[in-house]
Order: sequence, then structure tokens, then C-alpha cells
Amino acid sequence: MYCGPVIDPEVVCQQTFIQKVTWFSEIDSTNTLALSQLETFDCLPILIGADKQTGGRGRGQNSWYAGSGGLTFSVILRPVDFQLEHRHWPLMSLFVGLAIREAISQFVTREPVSLKWPNDIYLGERKVCGVLIESAPQHRDMVVIGIGLNVNNSFDGAPDDIRCRAVSMSGVEIQLFNRQLVLVEVLKSLEEVLQTAANSVADLLTEWRSHCFLTGRRIKVDEIHRTVTGNCLGIDQEGALLLQTDEKIERLFAGSVTLL
Ligand code: BTN
Repeated sequence: MYCGPVIDPEVVCQQTFIQKVTWFSEIDSTNTLALSQLETFDCLPILIGADKQTGGRGRGQNSWYAGSGGLTFSVILRPVDFQLEHRHWPLMSLFVGLAIREAISQFVTREPVSLKWPNDIYLGERKVCGVLIESAPQHRDMVVIGIGLNVNNSFDGAPDDIRCRAVSMSGVEIQLFNRQLVLVEVLKSLEEVLQTAANSVADLLTEWRSHCFLTGRRIKVDEIHRTVTGNCLGIDQEGALLLQTDEKIERLFAGSVTLL
């Protein structure tokens, strides 16, 4: 399938806050490479991207499946460069999801674009984008924001469980998108949201809540040592997921969510 022009690093650097782009035709994982090279990065933010990942990683033990035509990349940055207070760093994953949601909404109108806590983006009832934020113990001041966005990829050859849960922007709009344009909009939106986060965390959380995929739904959250079931009430000021169980309101800070 023809998926539009490849990424032009010069254009990305001219039009966004990214200082340097390294784009591979094939790599194991952009996040893995970024984490292994943190000490070599001088001028941030840096972007590492790939047309194809052979070992793309998702949250937990998951892998990231993306046929050709998707966008898979990592942005490496220092939250302090955006005056993001340390106590707000745990909210970063919510903010990144919000930024991507806003960018996707400029291209997709046929389905609602919503946010599934903590940082998946959904088109209608299916996942269009996943985010994996990582850091390394020796470089706690830097974060690697890995983004897998289904732009023009098809899931025809994908394993069954992925085919029924994933969707691409092109699959919804029945048209191909210029991946460079999409990438630039995602990066512009990311910069804007991070700048807003310096002063207006509460506003961003309010905005996040208005697009929450889970609010009002009955869900199950698998934590490491237990599973909690209840009705989702949204998120609180610290980004915790609020779950009304039979006994009380639970605040959850991590876990994998399944709709019931
Ligand atoms: C998830 O939904 O579980 C997160 C998926 C994150 C995938 C992206 S693709 C670019 C970057 N490199 C990786 O190996 N993973 C992230």
C-alpha cells in the first residue's frame, strides 16, 4: 500500500520544537534505542522514529503491533525544560494522551476521539494510539515518550485479538493521510500541552475528563496483586482513576483496564 511521503527530518525540525530527528527504515524499538543512548543526547527534544519496528514494546509485557503505514517514534525531552513541577510528572502520560487526541481530532471527524486511562487514544470503540513513557535510573531528568499511532496501517494480517480491538485513522476516514503532516501536528500539540502544564494543570485535567472513554462504564482494573471492579467515575486531581465499587470509591494509580 502507498502510504505517502516519508518523514523529512529537516521539515520536522523547522516546524516543531524538535531539535534533531533520527529516522530508521527498520529498528527493534525506538524506545529501547533512546533509553540506551540517553547520555549521548545534548540538544533536546530529540525524535527517534522508524518505518518498522521488529521489537516494538507496549505497556507491561505487551508488544506493539503496527503494520506498515503507522507512525512509531519516541520523543526524548527534559520535563524541567517545560517548567513542569516535579509533583506533576506522574501526570505526564495523561498530558501526552491529551495532546495526541487534539492532533488526531484535526484529521478524524467520523468517530469520537477519546482517552482511555492512563494513556490510550480511542477512535469510537477501538484503540488508535498507545503511549509508553519510560526513563532510566541514571538519567531521571529525561523521559522517553514512545508513541505508536495507527495512521494508514491496516490490521488485515494482524492477530485476531488485535484486529478486533485496533483501528487506524485511515480505516475510519477511508482515506490515506500524509504521515509527516500528522507527525508535525502531534508534536505541535505536545509542545503546547507541555507549556500549558507549567501553569494550568487543573485546566488540562478538566479537558482530559471531558474526553474520558471510561467514565460511566463498568470496568475491571487488573493491578499487580488484585483486580478491582466497579463503575468508572473519571479521574481526580492527581490523575488517579476513580472507581465506584460496591463498598467505596477506589483511587487507582496503575493497572490495566478492561470494559465489562
Ligand atoms: C501501549 O499501548 O501499550 C503502548 C504502545 C507504545 C508503542 C510505541 S511505538 C514507538 C515506541 N517504541 C516502542 O517500542 N514502543 C513505543
